[in-house]
Amino acid sequence: MTDTPAKSTPAKSHGRKAIRPTLKPRELMTATPDLHGVWKAKILTLFPTAFPGVLGESLTGKALQDGLWQLETIDLRQFGVGKHRNVDDTPAGGGAGMVLRADVLGNAIEHALEGVRGNWPILYLSPRGKRMDQPMMRNLARADGVTLLCGRFEGVDERVLEHYGIQEVSLGDFVMTGGEIAAQALIDATVRLIPNVLGNAASTEEESFSSGLLEHPQYTRPAEWKGRVIPDVLMSGHHGKVAQWRQEQSEELTRTRRPDLWDAHQKLNKD
Ligand SMILES: C[S@@+](CC[C@H](N)C(=O)[O-])C[C@H]1O[C@@H](n2cnc3c(N)ncnc32)[C@H](O)[C@@H]1O
Repeated sequence: MTDTPAKSTPAKSHGRKAIRPTLKPRELMTATPDLHGVWKAKILTLFPTAFPGVLGESLTGKALQDGLWQLETIDLRQFGVGKHRNVDDTPAGGGAGMVLRADVLGNAIEHALEGVRGNWPILYLSPRGKRMDQPMMRNLARADGVTLLCGRFEGVDERVLEHYGIQEVSLGDFVMTGGEIAAQALIDATVRLIPNVLGNAASTEEESFSSGLLEHPQYTRPAEWKGRVIPDVLMSGHHGKVAQWRQEQSEELTRTRRPDLWDAHQKLNKD
């Protein structure tokens, strides 16, 4: 199902709206106190102005405004060395490009670690990482927060990943110029699973992947468009038949488009 704008406001006891009713998305990251018990993303990046980006729009933006989640950027350049605040250097052993320095990243990570509590993983956005999926986002939404390291150039010094036990996560099997877009994708997919961020709770229960299946096709007005009509069953008003049609469509789409998901779904239902 598509996301629908949240109609309900957070419970009064949260007292969050009062803190910053007029702030713009970027101000939400700098001018706000830490909200106790609120999920937070800390982003280590060379491009802090890339945030909140699309996360400041629509439902995630409204939820940020309402204090249902928080965002903090940490500018890697501030931890750079020398007059020019250098953050990178040539790869040991030679080769093309530059690598983000271990000492620079280490200092930035130590800074990011201040104030983290409970279950708070550090992830490095990387094409070598575990591919992002819905179970990963569900786990992250249950955490207290996440720290995300956005790479640039040829990536980061490996020792930093080892020292802090940083897990690598990938947006997919392709290479981008930096981790910022992948970080925003991860945050978007996670934040929408936090209670009250989406208006309609059913949205996350019925959509693709939640049941292990892809979602059925969706239609809306007009009833006829360029000679194409909405399937009769959806116009019948018969809820049982609509549910059955949707289930069949989900199964068929998953079987044909994603045999891997279909096999896993079959296996789960057999066990
Ligand atoms: C040009 S890439 C580095 C690629 C690296 N040399 C390699 O071959 O694995 C620069 C940065 O973009 C980010 N990045 C690129 N592709 C990504 C992907 N598929 N998922 C997540 N992050 C990615 C990472 O943070 C990475 O450090």
